[in-house]
Amino acid sequence: MEGSTSAIFLEYKVKNDVNVIGLKKALLKVYEKNSDQILILMSFSKKGFAVLGANAPEGLQDFKTLNGINNLSMPTSQSDIFIWAHSFSKSVMFDFQESAKEILNEFLTLDLEQEGFRYHDSRDLTGFVDGSANPKGDKRMEEVLVPIGENNGNGSFVITQKWVHDLASFHSHKVEEQEKIIGRTKVDSIELEGDAMPKDSHVSSVDLKVDGEAMKIYRRSFPFANAEEKGLFFLGFAKNLQRFDVQLESMLGLSDDGISDRIMDFSIPKTGGYYFAPSVKELLKHLTN
Ligand code: HEM
Repeated sequence: MEGSTSAIFLEYKVKNDVNVIGLKKALLKVYEKNSDQILILMSFSKKGFAVLGANAPEGLQDFKTLNGINNLSMPTSQSDIFIWAHSFSKSVMFDFQESAKEILNEFLTLDLEQEGFRYHDSRDLTGFVDGSANPKGDKRMEEVLVPIGENNGNGSFVITQKWVHDLASFHSHKVEEQEKIIGRTKVDSIELEGDAMPKDSHVSSVDLKVDGEAMKIYRRSFPFANAEEKGLFFLGFAKNLQRFDVQLESMLGLSDDGISDRIMDFSIPKTGGYYFAPSVKELLKHLTN
C-alpha cells in the first residue's frame, strides 16, 4: 500500500501474568482485520517473542539509549509489541484503532499511540520529500528481508522513533541552507553533489558503507501534527540491526569522523524501539500454535 495517506502506530507492553492463549487469539483477531482497505504489520521485541513462546531471530536486541557528542541523545522506550496499520482512508483507520485497542486492552498496556498522515507528495513537515533514496523493486526485499531459514528469521528488523520538530527553527533558515541540512534540493529532491554536499548534512550522516557494504534501509515514516507537537514518526526496515545502529551512531557524531547530523539541531527523538516483523506465515504460526 505504497502512498497510503493515513497511519496508526501502537506500541504495547505485555501485562504481568498474561493469559498467553488469550493474547494470541486477540492478536490474531486484530491481524485478521487486514483487508484490501487496510494493511497491518505486527512486530515483536525479544520479550514479545518470548511471551509467545517463539524463538526471537538472532541479532534482535532492545533499543538502548544512545548518547552522542554535544549532549545529543536518543532515548529508548522499548515496548514488547509494535503494530503499524495504514490505509487510504482516515475513517477505516479510526475504526481499526478503536477496535484494536478494545481487543488488546485486557492483555496489553498501551505505551504509545501515534497517528500519522501523508503530507503532500510524501514529504516530511520540513517540506522535503522523505523516501527518495529508498531501495526499489526487488532490491527492496533484498535489503530488508532476512532470508527463510537464516538466523531463525524470515521477516524484517524494524526501528521506530518518534521525532519532534522545531519547525520554526528549521524554517528560519533560507531554503538554500535547509537544503544543506538535508543534503537534497527541496522542490525536486535531487541529491547535492561533490563539494555542494556538506559533511554534516543528513544524507552524509546516513548514506554509509561498512566494509564496502551499503547500509541500506527501507523507510516508511509518517509525519504527525497536533496542537502540542509536530514531527515525524520514523519507521524503518532492514535485514539486520547493524544498519540502524551505524546510522544512528553517525547522526550522533559517534563514528570516526566525529560529525553529528544537522537534522538534530531542530528535531529530537522522544522514543526508540527495535522489533522484528515476522513474515505472514511465521506470524500465523506463532499466533495459532
Ligand atoms: C527528524 C527525523 C528525520 C527526518 C526529518 C528525515 C528526513 C529525511 C529526508 C528528507 C531524506 C532525503 C530524501 C530521502 O532519500 O528520503 C532522508 C534520507 C535518509 N534518511 Fe532520514 N530523516 C530522519 C531521520 C532518520 C533516521 C533516524 C535515520 C536512520 C535510522 C534516517 C535514515 C535515512 C536514510 C538511510 C536516508 C537515505 C540516504 C541516502 O542513501 O541517500 N533518517 N531522511
